[in-house]
Amino acid sequence: MRQVLLGCASLILLLAAACAPGDPGSTIKGVTYNAQQIAEGRTYYEQTCAACHGVDGEGQFPDAPFEPDETGRLGAPPHNPTGHTWHHSDELLLRYITDGGFADPANFYIMPRWDSLYTRDQAALIIAYIKTMWTEEQRIYQQRVTNEEEALVAQTQP
Ligand code: HEC
Repeated sequence: MRQVLLGCASLILLLAAACAPGDPGSTIKGVTYNAQQIAEGRTYYEQTCAACHGVDGEGQFPDAPFEPDETGRLGAPPHNPTGHTWHHSDELLLRYITDGGFADPANFYIMPRWDSLYTRDQAALIIAYIKTMWTEEQRIYQQRVTNEEEALVAQTQP
């Protein structure tokens, strides 16, 4: 009995370690990033993205992120679980960083492009960090969106 209990306890510890925040081993397009790489992505995020999207991904206007301000435009959206960044595939998230946003500037503030500052590999580190802000369900959903999109692309390629 004691051994069974000990076995259970170590299993729980193992599971807890696997789910510890900050080291979920974010996967982007099949490549899994470790805690050190995620920390590098976090540095880039804090240097470049936090000014608009918030240090904790709370968005530019955390009190009403999806309401236009007095200029009639929406600010940088939250990346945390209250936002919808997790609805986008890995490829689209990478392109947001390298190519910038594409929303109508009449309705949104502008999301600049960062390809002169970050390579695509560095952009992946930033996305790996943003993924740590999501819930487990959101991460699973986003992985499914990514897989479905990749399957579709593979189908249309000769
Ligand atoms: C000058 C402010 C600003 C900075 C700095 C900025 N963004 Fe944005 N970002 C925006 C705005 C505004 C939008 C919404 C407009 C759009 O989608 O075109 C946006 C949209 C996004 C989206 C789509 C989010 C969603 O929920 O649909 C992603 C992803 C994103 N940004 C990532 C980043 C990353 C990563 C960085 C840092 C490398 C960054 N942004 C830096 C303003 C900014």
